[in-house]
Amino acid sequence: MKNLIQKYNIPGPRYTSYPTVPFWDKKGISLDHWKQSVVKSFNESNDSEGISLYIHLPYCESLCTFCACHKRITKRHSVEEPYITLVLKEWNLYCDLLKDKPRIREIHLGGGTPTFFSSDNLKMLIDGIFKRAEKFKDFEFSYEGHPNHTSEEQLQTLYDLGSRRNSFGIQDYDPVVQKAIHRVQSFEQVKKVNDLSRKIGYTSISHDLIFGLPFQTEESIRNTIKNTIALKPDRIAYYSYAHVPWIKGVGQRGFDDNDLPKENEKRHLYELGKQLFFDAGYIEIGMDHFALPSDSLYKAMKNKKLHRNFMGYTAGKTQLMIGLGMSSISDSWYAFAQNEKTIEAYTEKINQGILPVFKGHLLTDQDLNLRKHILNLMCNLETNWDVGLTEKIKNDIVNRLQEMIHDGLIEITNDKIIVKEEGRMFIRNICMAFDLKLIENKPETRIFSMTI
Ligand SMILES: C[S@@+](CC[C@H](N)C(=O)[O-])C[C@H]1O[C@@H](n2cnc3c(N)ncnc32)[C@H](O)[C@@H]1O
Ligand code: SF4
Repeated sequence: MKNLIQKYNIPGPRYTSYPTVPFWDKKGISLDHWKQSVVKSFNESNDSEGISLYIHLPYCESLCTFCACHKRITKRHSVEEPYITLVLKEWNLYCDLLKDKPRIREIHLGGGTPTFFSSDNLKMLIDGIFKRAEKFKDFEFSYEGHPNHTSEEQLQTLYDLGSRRNSFGIQDYDPVVQKAIHRVQSFEQVKKVNDLSRKIGYTSISHDLIFGLPFQTEESIRNTIKNTIALKPDRIAYYSYAHVPWIKGVGQRGFDDNDLPKENEKRHLYELGKQLFFDAGYIEIGMDHFALPSDSLYKAMKNKKLHRNFMGYTAGKTQLMIGLGMSSISDSWYAFAQNEKTIEAYTEKINQGILPVFKGHLLTDQDLNLRKHILNLMCNLETNWDVGLTEKIKNDIVNRLQEMIHDGLIEITNDKIIVKEEGRMFIRNICMAFDLKLIENKPETRIFSMTI
């Protein structure tokens, strides 16, 4: 196994989309093409499955030095209201395009820290969204909360607005690790928000943990997982630390590269975590995620209904996902579009009444077919050959996978590719065999984190 890890631990995408963002068309997408693709997707799917909204709330009070997200650090809460006003203006721009009322299947508030915002402002946001929309059946509303900045009032307000699922960033409980990542939060604080969520009636609580952080050891991970299991979250995200200082600059320089666990140690931390989660009754979902069998994510996986998008894994697949707020990515299935990444550029476009898209990609038929295969592999750990690929492309993929067949990671039959249990940890590498954009345009500089 050690040799396989050394062999396959290379930079690679996490496949929350195909094509992955660095390989979107350099020419971008015109605003007209983007709008047309949204309208087409909306007309095809609003009645039958509804749409999803991802809303990016970028503010945090303090900087965690491991963080790879798009965020703005400030203690000035006067930024809240103007930001919500901008997001609602953006939503209105989309609603003006659509002939019917959007039916919302899923809303996710991500960040940054959504619970940076006061209860009143969160209510203003959700009420503002539903002025122009209605709920689709099985409506789901989830959000990310920072345990140090989530009050009972916020939990109650979001519950009253329809949320039944939240996720808390935990990362690690060890004091040495917490100090290095500049994120000190006690078990008591996490227990408090976790217990309050249960008391209020949330039915799915998720905890985010990361392995591969500076100064983590087998013992510290055991302890972090023991604390996590004691609170019995319904879902656990166990992320591989993405060390991307060339993108995140000073934000990821709060510790030295030498403080990070080496690749075998890091993989061991993953294996250890996985075993401890199994022992506690959790089941592995796709990549990075674990869930109790009572949770909807597990049920979706069992029924082959799991979907993966820019928010990660979800049980509620919709063809159209609109991303609102700075840096958000939208997915109309036929195209992707990313919003301006800075508050200033985002504000300027919204105030001019323009959708704040700054780059995007219109998928070709080939992109769409490859996308389906990659999604199948990431969600179901298998894919059928019947999704249209030319004989040449299929043969090239099979050739690229020979080594992995030889290493016992996958099995190829006449009709499908099946990822074996031994191959699960190499899922990103397996998908890379389908990633024609990556193969045809090998990057000259580092753009992805390591696959293992
Ligand atoms: C956008 S953050 C929002 C959570 C919230 N702000 C908090 O800190 O509690 C969502 C999750 O992304 C994960 N994350 C952020 N940076 C990461 C990195 N460099 N590598 C792996 N996971 C990361 C963390 O687990 C984090 O909880
Ligand atoms: S981990 Fe959460 S709180 Fe910390 S900087 Fe990132 S988004 Fe903000």
